[in-house]
Amino acid sequence: MSFDQMYREVILDHYKNPRRHGVLEGADATAEGVNPLCGDEVTISVAFDDDGETIRDVMFEGRGCAISQASTSMLMEMVKGKTATQVAELPKDDLLEEIGIPLTPVRLKCALLGLGVLKVALHRAKGTPLPEEWAGLDELELK
Ligand code: FES
Repeated sequence: MSFDQMYREVILDHYKNPRRHGVLEGADATAEGVNPLCGDEVTISVAFDDDGETIRDVMFEGRGCAISQASTSMLMEMVKGKTATQVAELPKDDLLEEIGIPLTPVRLKCALLGLGVLKVALHRAKGTPLPEEWAGLDELELK
């Protein structure tokens, strides 16, 4: 099996069996986003540890294409236990590396929907900065 195939299988597995799927009771922060190009949606809820900074728990719900849902599922596993500041500064390339396959510009928007939503949730809750590289994602409607 080639690397590409292997990554595709992992993506499909996350799509079919999303990790950390649902809504968090008593979340400290939530945000939802829609990709207006296709209407796909992602909602993310986050709860912090007593330190008010470490992500104790994080969950997502959504509907849409395999890439948007699988990348958000992967993201959930990447960020649990990290601090809000670490995730606010997390470069999108870290997530894209995890996804592992080359993406067209349209697919790139799918892949980054969840990360954009999570950054907005953290930004709202903690006032952590949204890095400049997110400025290009303004086609995403983040609510
Ligand atoms: Fe809508 Fe992928 S087609 S996010």
